[in-house]
Amino acid sequence: MKGRLLSFTLFGESHGMAVGVLIEGLPPGIEVNVEELRGELQRRKGIPRFSTKRREDDEPVILSGVFNGFTTGTPVAVMVWNGDVDSSYYEEIWHTPRPGHADYPAGIKYFGYNDYRGGGHFSGRLTVGAVIAGYFAKKLLEREGIHLRAYIKRIGRVECPEVTPEAVFSSENPYCPHAESFEMMVEEMERARAEGDSVGGVVEAIALNVPPGLGGPWDEDIEADIASALFRIPAVKGVEFGLGLGFAEKRGSEANDPFVIRNGKILTETNNHGGVLGGITTGMPLVVRAAFKPTPSIYLPQRTVDLAKMEETGLRLRGRFDSCIVPKALPVVEAVVAFVLADHLLRRKAWEGVVM
Ligand SMILES: Cc1cc2nc3c(=O)[nH]c(=O)nc-3n(C[C@H](O)[C@H](O)[C@H](O)COP(=O)(O)O)c2cc1C
Repeated sequence: MKGRLLSFTLFGESHGMAVGVLIEGLPPGIEVNVEELRGELQRRKGIPRFSTKRREDDEPVILSGVFNGFTTGTPVAVMVWNGDVDSSYYEEIWHTPRPGHADYPAGIKYFGYNDYRGGGHFSGRLTVGAVIAGYFAKKLLEREGIHLRAYIKRIGRVECPEVTPEAVFSSENPYCPHAESFEMMVEEMERARAEGDSVGGVVEAIALNVPPGLGGPWDEDIEADIASALFRIPAVKGVEFGLGLGFAEKRGSEANDPFVIRNGKILTETNNHGGVLGGITTGMPLVVRAAFKPTPSIYLPQRTVDLAKMEETGLRLRGRFDSCIVPKALPVVEAVVAFVLADHLLRRKAWEGVVM
């Protein structure tokens, strides 16, 4: 992911030696706590019942760019060894691409040279590196008092009702601040799992204390950068800010957020705009949602093609998959939003240094 000042490159394959990330542009002096980083990687494992049965330690190995507990300002490389890999089933499905997964287009793009085992570079496992990059970005943002939290807004047909940012940040449940909805969401995931099927959902991320003035028009649009970052996460198929698609059915008089002054600060009374106007942050909480499709790999019979025989055929998957991606996607969504915010914050700091 390439920002103007910050970028990261993911490397690895699901069933290869390791996965990891190379992060460039981080300033020196960001405090790194390996225990916290471990915690972020553990969050990425989601709810065990609905996650793959593959068991991974996900122990981060910091290769460069961190010295005496602080970033040095040189590229940061962090990897995680892969373990508990079982590629046997993938030999069976090599010629029969999974519907909904990247197997078919990836084979075309890489002329058949791609490592297809476990989805290879297209596996959700690559999000380990994104979460690591997000950890560093979050540490940078925290120094400015900017905090992020994502929660599950929807699983299948179950939607969490409107909740305040305060409720999200103070929630003890790491997945959803609304206990009743969460119970129903678990049932929805359980039903899909028991039927050998999968289910999708929506993750909402909220960032508090984002200063006004980050972003800009067109090429600098922070909304576009965050949307672009979110769409890079495998299985994300929709992104919206604030009222999002809901704006389409509103009148301007209902949609506009009135400006008000509270305790000497300019705010808006409502936050339909989700914290961004004209591609620039307003100082209101940034509110963004990403829709995840159901996990493509399911145990129910599916239809596909046999690429070797050039004929239509059936597919019955074995192997280990997430029956719902959404719970483990929470730190991933936070990570990419944090990374974009950190890039824009550094740009703003550069201007402030010259203008103010
Ligand atoms: C955290 C995470 C875990 C995932 N786990 C799986 C999985 O176990 N099985 C699967 O088929 N897809 C899984 N996916 C989704 C696929 O990687 C994704 O659907 C696929 O690469 C095709 O890309 P697209 O859906 O963005 O078009 C996961 C995605 C994420 C973000």
